[in-house]
Amino acid sequence: MDQDPTVSQRYRLPSLSDKAALARLAAIGVVVLAVIACFAYVAGWISPARLSQARLIDRFQQVDGIHLGFRRNHAKGVCVTGSFESNGQGVRLSKAAIFAPGRVPVDGRFSLAGGDPQMADGPSDVRALGLRFRPPAGEEWRTAMVNIPVFIVKTPAAFYDQLLASKPDPATGKPDPAKMAAFSAAHPEFGPAIKIIMSQPFSSGFANTQFNSLNAFRFINEAGVVTPVRWSMVPTEPFAPEPPDQAKSPDRNYLFDAMIARVARGPLQWHLVVTLGQPGDVTDDATIPWPADREHVDLGVLTIDHAATEELDNCRDINFDPLALPSGIQPSDDPLLSARSAAYSESFTRREGETKSPSAVQVPGKGS
Ligand code: HEM
Repeated sequence: MDQDPTVSQRYRLPSLSDKAALARLAAIGVVVLAVIACFAYVAGWISPARLSQARLIDRFQQVDGIHLGFRRNHAKGVCVTGSFESNGQGVRLSKAAIFAPGRVPVDGRFSLAGGDPQMADGPSDVRALGLRFRPPAGEEWRTAMVNIPVFIVKTPAAFYDQLLASKPDPATGKPDPAKMAAFSAAHPEFGPAIKIIMSQPFSSGFANTQFNSLNAFRFINEAGVVTPVRWSMVPTEPFAPEPPDQAKSPDRNYLFDAMIARVARGPLQWHLVVTLGQPGDVTDDATIPWPADREHVDLGVLTIDHAATEELDNCRDINFDPLALPSGIQPSDDPLLSARSAAYSESFTRREGETKSPSAVQVPGKGS
């Protein structure tokens, strides 16, 4: 049967001596090359000196070693689950489903800052809490908070430098004072931030610790009104300072084990308290606290009632990406946020592809 001439016309290959066809092919080639160049740039192949997420994670590995299967920072941790009961006070500030009155399930992870999953608990180790709120209709909210009141540096590049400057000298087991002095001189925000951090004593355990977002975010309500915010989880357990001899405990996991034992006796609770920024408050520098008189709004209560050893499919395999935000919460202009998101993703990708070893923190039995 004869071919339909219109079909064969349509699919006829152009002659390579046809100049217009060659120009079209060249244009396609340019587009393809441009796309490849974009991927190469993002991956850091064109500019190896640029601070990429891979370089940030390489720096953690350089300082703390490679511990297969573990997070490259906050490597030591334990999983928890519970719920968040919203009191509805957040509705005027944000349209996020999580702030409508009611209860949503939450999973989380208590951890210590640092890339060594076998590190011993200590009185000045930075404590942390990652949370994932799961409203029934989707729109998850993830947040990763720490117990210090401000962050130590303003930019990802400064954090990259600080990690190396504070690497313990093998001879003394402490950071080299000369390197720290040089780092501090190059990053003027560091000294004042450390002063603020040192002025607030650490509590005796995870249960009575306040956890802070540090970075600013933006709440957007149904009317489109934007409010700059920072949030904290404020414990209902009363503050008690870390006893001076607690760190001498032979239990290398004394902070985690105390928290696990406490959850086994009954639920732990924190209030989600949001601080409202005012015009002029700094949103792109997590080293600077907002004035103490800013309005605080209590949005509801977090209850943690179960702890479990890290294992397949629980918090071990969650990335508490600070930019996993529901509609109604947006990032601020803080440059740390996108760097965190990119670095957590790189750490997650590496650790998920690796063989796993047991976590140092073991919850007795099947969990408390
Ligand atoms: C540029 C700055 C930062 C970098 C590069 C960085 C990097 C990392 C990395 C690589 C992880 C492990 C992620 C994973 O494998 O899932 C992590 C975990 C964590 N980070 Fe950061 N971080 C930064 C700043 C901060 C700040 C400002 C906070 C506090 C608000 C914070 C709180 C946490 C917490 C709580 C975790 C543990 C979350 C979990 O349990 O999975 N980080 N960080």
